Amino acid sequence: MTMRTQVGIVGSGPSGLLLSQILHKAGIESVILERRSRDYVEGRIRAGVIEQGAVDLLTSAGVGERMASQGLVHEGFDIALNGERTRVDLAGLTGGKTVTVYGQTEITKDLINARLDAGGTIIFEAGDVRPEGFEGASPVLSFTQDGARQELHCDFIAGCDGYHGVCRASFPDGEIRSFERVYPFAWLGVLVEAPPPSHELIYCRDTRGFALFSMRSTEVSRSYLQCAPDEDLNEWPDDRVFEELQRRLGDSATVAAGNVLEKSVTPMRSFVAEPLRYGRLFLAGDAGHIVPPTGAKGLNLAASDIYYLSNGLIDYYRNGNEGLLDTYSATALDRVWKAQRFSYYMTTLLHNTGGDGFDDKIKLAELRYTLGSESALESLAENYVGLPY
Ligand code: FAD
Ligand code: DHB
Repeated sequence: MTMRTQVGIVGSGPSGLLLSQILHKAGIESVILERRSRDYVEGRIRAGVIEQGAVDLLTSAGVGERMASQGLVHEGFDIALNGERTRVDLAGLTGGKTVTVYGQTEITKDLINARLDAGGTIIFEAGDVRPEGFEGASPVLSFTQDGARQELHCDFIAGCDGYHGVCRASFPDGEIRSFERVYPFAWLGVLVEAPPPSHELIYCRDTRGFALFSMRSTEVSRSYLQCAPDEDLNEWPDDRVFEELQRRLGDSATVAAGNVLEKSVTPMRSFVAEPLRYGRLFLAGDAGHIVPPTGAKGLNLAASDIYYLSNGLIDYYRNGNEGLLDTYSATALDRVWKAQRFSYYMTTLLHNTGGDGFDDKIKLAELRYTLGSESALESLAENYVGLPY
């Protein structure tokens, strides 16, 4: 069977869904091809801290209502160094800017509902998706649905298929370059039915390693522990996780135990592919770049990529201009690299990096300097709330 649309989107994570929703609002058709089932996509526990820019973009795309009523607006967070907490007053340091705590699962559900309610097409469980013909004027996405091979003809392909997707891998040899740093540690994350230890996030640097206390609501906490990349979850029964979280937090607050809803290990890497375009194939979100999670920039970068890419596509369809599509890669990468810098900074500032001890001493000095310097805190806060689009 052969279908036709204007923009063929691979992946129904936040990037693909948001692009489809913004294009729909502008009267541009798209079809999303997603490898997984709807339940799987909606259940994947990931990001939780949303920058104001991403909140505004989601709101203007018509999916801000539930986030406005259920999201938690945070005006600051704490950094604890060996148990001693210092507040980073985000609002005070940035002229009133804040972040919103609202789960990626909820954003994904809101976007899927909005697309399907408006009659949009998301093909879940699309197998063996192959982007073809994008070096010329007639791109095609071929895929398998219910055992039969199908073709989706389109004007452009948006590769929103995450780090392991097929779109980046489809660039011709020599037409894409990767920059990468893999960290010698990972995060063990738990989602727990229990209130977080504080109403704001706490990032901890401790001699035993990094810990982060976040949340999904006032009743559900989300916490992370620095661990080894090959950490065996079988060695982490729930009691041990709660004990270790409490040790790294110190005695300024209490870690509440509760029913553990999810437990997983997340590897940490910095990765950027350049450029984000070949012919009529564009990469956005994790398909083009990955940040280590410290600082919560991944989903927010997906949103800013989609802002630039949707502007380019809208200008093309409304006015016939290709200028913004031509500058998409450079514009998006400029913001991506600034967020990479910040994520690298936050990661190395707050984790024990091992080695001969010199790097850790330098980072400890940098952290003490930052916590005691208004101008250093201002820079940290400016980046944490998100650089302008
Ligand atoms: P993805 O969410 O990866 O979506 C890609 C989609 O494409 C998936 O649905 C996948 O199934 C589909 N797909 C893949 N291959 C194919 C194929 N061949 N064919 C069809 N479909 C395909 N970011 C933040 O901003 N703030 C945070 O607080 C934060 N915390 C995080 C915590 C953790 C533990 C993790 C793991 C990540 C966190 N992130 C955070 C990062 C954030 O989750 C990602 O950056 C975000 O999901 C990127 O969205 P995306 O749509 O680009 O990619
Ligand atoms: C969360 C994840 C992050 O990477 C971060 O810096 C803050 C919060 C979270 O999952 O809630």
